[in-house]
Amino acid sequence: MSSNDASVRLAAAINDRTARVAVIGQGYVGLPLAVELARAGFRVVGIDTDADRVAAITIGQSPTPDIPSDTLHALAHSGRYRITTDFAAIDGNDVVIICVPTPLRKSKDPDISFVAAAASEVAGRFHPGQLVVLESTTYPGTTQELLVPLFEARGARVGVDLFLAFSPERIDPGNPKYKMKDIPKIVGGVTETCTRLGALLYRQLVAGVREVSSPMVAELAKLYENVFRNVNIALANEFAIMCRRLGVNSREVIDAAATKPFGFLPFYPGPGIGGHCIAVDPFYLSWKMRLNGYEARFVHLADEINAAMPHYVVQLIAEALNERERCLKGARILALGVAYKRGVGDTRESPALEVLHGLQERGALVSYADPYVPSIVVGDTQLKAVPVSDETLAAADCVVVLTDHPDFDYARVSELATLVVDSRNATWGVSAPAERVVRL
Ligand SMILES: NC(=O)c1ccc[n+]([C@@H]2O[C@H](COP(=O)([O-])OP(=O)(O)OC[C@H]3O[C@@H](n4cnc5c(N)ncnc54)[C@H](O)[C@@H]3O)[C@@H](O)[C@H]2O)c1
Repeated sequence: MSSNDASVRLAAAINDRTARVAVIGQGYVGLPLAVELARAGFRVVGIDTDADRVAAITIGQSPTPDIPSDTLHALAHSGRYRITTDFAAIDGNDVVIICVPTPLRKSKDPDISFVAAAASEVAGRFHPGQLVVLESTTYPGTTQELLVPLFEARGARVGVDLFLAFSPERIDPGNPKYKMKDIPKIVGGVTETCTRLGALLYRQLVAGVREVSSPMVAELAKLYENVFRNVNIALANEFAIMCRRLGVNSREVIDAAATKPFGFLPFYPGPGIGGHCIAVDPFYLSWKMRLNGYEARFVHLADEINAAMPHYVVQLIAEALNERERCLKGARILALGVAYKRGVGDTRESPALEVLHGLQERGALVSYADPYVPSIVVGDTQLKAVPVSDETLAAADCVVVLTDHPDFDYARVSELATLVVDSRNATWGVSAPAERVVRL
């Protein structure tokens, strides 16, 4: 098959949406992608190694707030979406998209084993005329250095009978304004034809597609976005520490600065960085740069500042109690929110867990409320969420806001709690006696 034949056939199948698509990894990224593809009219199979997740999605239980159960039921009913643990389902698909995790090892080096395992499954089932796209956030060079050899070892000729591209996912789970279809995609293929076919696929789903000259440009673009966020959050955190020393609220300062209509983007302080992306991805860049003999200094400084924030919040609580002639040991602390960000139930890398662990280690009696997270493990202890009632608020020696979920009534919290330590400035603008509320 010539490159031209294969790419023309694939382009036609993508354009008329008869192309069959497999999405590997059905988590926060892969499931919404599979759903958008199915909504666009493609026949989609989701493949995931987690049998429990597959069973839950099969009966309509979604792991992400962006995909309601009704949507899963409707798509399954239409026959355009199914999910399985069986990699044989890759056979016969024209397009395969890989959306598996890219965590860190304990050493903070990239753990690329999930991508390698998924890509090996795909390469092992390669058939001429396929488009394969990697969406997982990863170090620059992954597509070219890891994926290309896997496929070539199976006889694929990249750009001729196999089309390979990197296209980073940029979704923000739980974001009410920007859903997947509203966020432009970046596509970098190994060859121009690979880029063109990848871009054609995503044009069926999203408003804008930016084609770039190589997979590495696309890999770096995603890392730059997340390093940008990580560094700016670190700056906001350090700024908040400086503002506190000067007796000024950082939120008021940042909001005032944000009135400048150009050259400024507001980022806000908090108890640290969490989630699967911002806390993790910058290390994919710094690891690669270290191999290239260069230390990514901003990445390290931002990590140092952000990683110290949970301890800073524990200190704030201890000092606030001390000023009220209480000690942390034996104090009843009610935490509001344990998810890593507002409006979601994701506790991966959540700094709230570190704050709670730090409090527990110093003898505090910790409980938490979070409408999205029914239970958590702190140290060796499993905790179940408690309701936020007038009684629980009043009974706590200190209520600490760790996640600014929109569900909490911050006016009520400020009115009933004897002491509030607010690490998110969620009570900013709420009238409360100054001596009862400590803000970051
Ligand atoms: N969550 C986000 O907000 C977000 C945003 C943009 C990019 N990303 C990136 O997207 C990638 C996926 O993240 P996620 O949040 O969807 O992770 P996730 O943990 O929610 O989902 C990943 C899924 O892949 C499955 N899986 C693991 N190995 C597999 C394999 N070999 N074959 C098939 N399935 C496998 C897991 O069981 C899991 O269900 C990561 O690289 C992440 O950095 C995430």
